[in-house]
Amino acid sequence: MQNSQYLSAALLTWYAQNRRELPWRNTSDPYAIWISEIMLQQTQVETVIDYYHRFLNGFPDVARLGQAEEEDVLSLWKGLGYYTRARNILRAARVILEKFDGVFPTVYTDIRSLPGIGDYTAGAIASIAYNLSYPAVDGNVLRIISRLDGIEEDISLQKTKTRITARAAGLIPDGKAGDFNQALMDLGATVCVPKDPKCTVSCPWQTECSAHRDGKESILPIKKKAKKPIEYHYAAAVIRRNADILMTKRQADALLANMWGLPLVCLESGISPETRFGHEWGLEVTNTVYLGHVKHVFSHQIWQIDVYSMTLNDESQVDGDHNDRPLAWVSPERLKTLPVPKAFQKVLSLGSFF
Ligand code: ADE
Repeated sequence: MQNSQYLSAALLTWYAQNRRELPWRNTSDPYAIWISEIMLQQTQVETVIDYYHRFLNGFPDVARLGQAEEEDVLSLWKGLGYYTRARNILRAARVILEKFDGVFPTVYTDIRSLPGIGDYTAGAIASIAYNLSYPAVDGNVLRIISRLDGIEEDISLQKTKTRITARAAGLIPDGKAGDFNQALMDLGATVCVPKDPKCTVSCPWQTECSAHRDGKESILPIKKKAKKPIEYHYAAAVIRRNADILMTKRQADALLANMWGLPLVCLESGISPETRFGHEWGLEVTNTVYLGHVKHVFSHQIWQIDVYSMTLNDESQVDGDHNDRPLAWVSPERLKTLPVPKAFQKVLSLGSFF
């Protein structure tokens, strides 16, 4: 028996006995599988489960999603992070309605053409929903195959990814692409984990694995260090009017675009936050009291936010022009339904709002 046939069969047998019960594995609806795969791109399985159910409750099919307002989609995504995913899901739903008559595409190249769907996600959807023979190579698969074949090239290089993708594609058994790709996902999540892999306890590929044979599990895969995130220092203003709080809808081209947050200014040494709120927002503020500090880490940025409560001297300034960042008084009830990302939920909690 060829090495690849043995590997595929051993993995599928292992999967039959060890597969994780996950809600998106009880459906063959490509729409639901698509939503799960987008959520799983940058979020852990345990976190995704609740969001997956809530999202499908709110938007049960492509038609309902495609007709939604972006703000409502962002609200259901609130807390999951990487909000570009939610914006792209809405854009893709509208493309499906216009170009594919509302039917989720069944051809790989059509699936791959949708906003927010790259090679990995297209492969995952095509294989899981339709059993089409496409690999789904993410960080887990790069790690597993590097170890299996003892690949000592940097997995962030395209040429290494191409090599690993070809190897993964060659392992897919006929008509079983969905199970095979999901078996690899489960193997990466539970056995061939980054630190202290459980080779001897439960790996179906133990006898074939080059890294295990050579004692190199802990040094593979080789991966160049990611760039350091840039750090920004901000002051946030907590400004109240009775029970309401002054919030802003973020600019369409900003990080956390079109979501709601507190007015921020960049902190500069020698210039007080009050002065900066005057210059940048046209808001005359006084009675500044320091409430605390919030650190929020995004994939490429770190925000260090000093949070202040402040009093607004002239409420009419709220209605002025703020560089496409409209300000509004938000009641505690409305706050619950607005798309407020985690970074600002943390800031608001210092002002006793969340
Ligand atoms: N990670 C990405 N896609 C997944 C899936 N379908 N099941 C489990 N983990 C995943």
